[in-house]
Amino acid sequence: MKEAVFRVLKLLEEAGGPISGESLSASLGITRSAVWKHVKDLREMGYEITSSQQDGYQLISASTMLLPYEIQKHLRTQVIGRQMQYLKTIPSTNDVARSLATEGDVAALHGTVIIAEEQTGGVGRLSRAWVSPQGGIWITLILKPTIPIDHVFMITMAGAVAIARAIRKEFDIGALIKWPNDVYIGDKKVAGLLLELAAESDTIHYCLLGIGIDVNIKLDTLSPELRSGVTTISEELEHEVDRAAFLARVLREFERHYQVLESGEYDAILREWKSISYTLEQHVRVNTMRNSFEGEAIDIDEYGALIVRKDNGKIERVIAGDCFHT
Ligand code: BTN
Repeated sequence: MKEAVFRVLKLLEEAGGPISGESLSASLGITRSAVWKHVKDLREMGYEITSSQQDGYQLISASTMLLPYEIQKHLRTQVIGRQMQYLKTIPSTNDVARSLATEGDVAALHGTVIIAEEQTGGVGRLSRAWVSPQGGIWITLILKPTIPIDHVFMITMAGAVAIARAIRKEFDIGALIKWPNDVYIGDKKVAGLLLELAAESDTIHYCLLGIGIDVNIKLDTLSPELRSGVTTISEELEHEVDRAAFLARVLREFERHYQVLESGEYDAILREWKSISYTLEQHVRVNTMRNSFEGEAIDIDEYGALIVRKDNGKIERVIAGDCFHT
C-alpha cells in the first residue's frame, strides 16, 4: 500500500467519525484532490468510506481483504511476516516467492510472507491442483533455515502444529494433524502445507513453505468432488471470521514453533505433533510410489516418517506417500 494512502486511512481510523477533506489535506500536506484519490483507492481495497459535502469523509468499515495493513494490526512476531507482499490474483504465491528467493538476498528475505487474495494456478502436494478462491488464506513463507537438511521436514510439522494450534486458540475447534501435512477438522481437510526446498548437497539455500487454509469459503461454491472431503472455518462456525487476525495468529504460532526447531529441540515439536495427531493409532491404507498396504499407524520419527505396523505384523517406515484412514 502506498504510504500516503496508508496515512489517509490512519487519520480516518483515528477520527472515529466524520473528518473533512480540508483537515485531511492540511494534516497530510497534500491537496484535497489527492485526498479524494486516496479515498477512492481505499474504497477499491474494500474499505467502506462515506463522503458528504457537509461532514467530509467517514470510515464505516474496514476491508475484509487480506491486506498487510490489517494483518499488522494483530501481528505479534519478530521475524515471520515482518515483510509481506500482497497480490490480488496470481497463479501461485509459490512462484512469486521462488522468483524473489532465487533473485534476492535470501537471508534478508527470511520470514517474508507472500499473500494472494486468490490463486488461479495453486499447486498442492504431488503437483495436484489446489483450488484457491477468494476467502481462503493462500500464502508462501520464505525461510533460510539453519537446521540440518535431514530434519527439514520438521518445518512442515511445525507449520501443521501452528495451524492446528491457531484454529484451536482462535475458534475453539479441535483441529488435528493428518500425516504427512494436512490439518483436519473431524474427518475433513481444512488446510494443507507444501514444502519446497532449494539445496545443494548439505546446504539449504532456501525453503518455501506454502500454506493453504480454507477459511471464509462456502462449501456449495466448490465442486462436488472437492466438497466431499473438505471443510472450511466459516462452515464449521456458521459465520465468517476475521482472516487478518487469524493469519496473524498462524504466523505467531509458526514463529514460536520454528524457534523451537532452530534451537534443536526436535523432540518438543514431535511431541506436540503427536499430541494432536489424527493419524496415530488409526488403521490406515498407505499408497507410496512403490506399493500400497494397510496397517496401524503407530508412530512418527524425527525425520517425519510414518511408522506403520502392517496387517502382516511387519513394521514399515514411510517417508512419502498418501495416507487414508480406513
Ligand atoms: C496440499 O496438497 O495439501 C498442500 C497445499 C498447499 C497450497 C498452498 S496455497 C499457497 C501456496 N501456493 C500454492 O500454489 N500452493 C501453496
